[in-house]
Amino acid sequence: MTSQKLAGKTALITGGARGLGRGYALHLAGLGADIAVIDRNLKAADVYEFERELLTADTVMAECEALGVRAMGLEADLTDRAAAEAAVQAVADKMGRIDIAVCNAGGGTVTFADERQPREGANETLDEVTVGTPSDTPEHMLSRVLDINIKTCMYTCMAVAPHMKKLGYGKIVTVSSTAGVDAKGEYHPYGLSKAAIIHYTRALAQELGPHNITVNAIAPGIIRTGRLGDRAEMAKDRVPLRREGTIEDCAKVVEFLTTDMSDYVTGRTIIIDGGMLR
Ligand SMILES: NC(=O)c1ccc[n+]([C@@H]2O[C@H](COP(=O)([O-])OP(=O)(O)OC[C@H]3O[C@@H](n4cnc5c(N)ncnc54)[C@H](O)[C@@H]3O)[C@@H](O)[C@H]2O)c1
Repeated sequence: MTSQKLAGKTALITGGARGLGRGYALHLAGLGADIAVIDRNLKAADVYEFERELLTADTVMAECEALGVRAMGLEADLTDRAAAEAAVQAVADKMGRIDIAVCNAGGGTVTFADERQPREGANETLDEVTVGTPSDTPEHMLSRVLDINIKTCMYTCMAVAPHMKKLGYGKIVTVSSTAGVDAKGEYHPYGLSKAAIIHYTRALAQELGPHNITVNAIAPGIIRTGRLGDRAEMAKDRVPLRREGTIEDCAKVVEFLTTDMSDYVTGRTIIIDGGMLR
């Protein structure tokens, strides 16, 4: 039955508490996978109205369970290698196996809403995003954005690899961005970290291929999530398909990369941008 093609498998989604990660968790749960979410804040959806309104239960884990699969959630800061290893081990212990890892945690975030003081008079405290340029990036932005993107990805991959080797099977999906493929963005430290993920993905695929583990990246373009807001006007100008991407647009590519449809695809990056990059 195609609808349950991931039955019996466990998928780990990092940064799965909201946005694209939540979408991957729900999509893979819909295909029958048991789900483990690791996020630095399992209540991260609370920060944005757009994300709060999408939630159909108190947590993403409860939403997955409503689809008939097992689900667990763990809070860990994946920029901390020891914390990443402990969290992945806890997933393996509880779920019994890790077949799929979607290393989605990341973004251009410098300071999360829960780390910021509420602004006087503002009714919401939002995440702060980086504004660095190639010749001028404040040190705290540079290190934070590199840590949040490339280190969380590497620490997760390094922690899941032994479990997948033991299984003799694995599907790893890393998350880059069109900003990591095209250097014209103004989002420099972010683009740098996402370009590094593409390189890491290719190298890891070489190493893990003999263990029947595939490693591929996705590079989303302008996708509507709460953190980045409504960019429909921008997409109309820049995107040949004349619209923003949706979470589901990306989740369908994650389905391809986590099911047997992609068994002979590894080390590649799939750009999901409606044709924006020329
Ligand atoms: N939305 C887009 O247009 C777009 C485009 C290209 C790439 N991406 C990438 O897709 C991924 C998800 O983007 P999003 O828009 O859903 O972002 P988001 O900020 O809504 O979600 C990211 C999640 O990751 C978690 N996270 C961040 N740092 C973490 C850490 N150190 N440890 C554990 N969890 C951590 C956050 O708490 C949050 O729940 C990111 O890697 C982002 O760079 C997004």
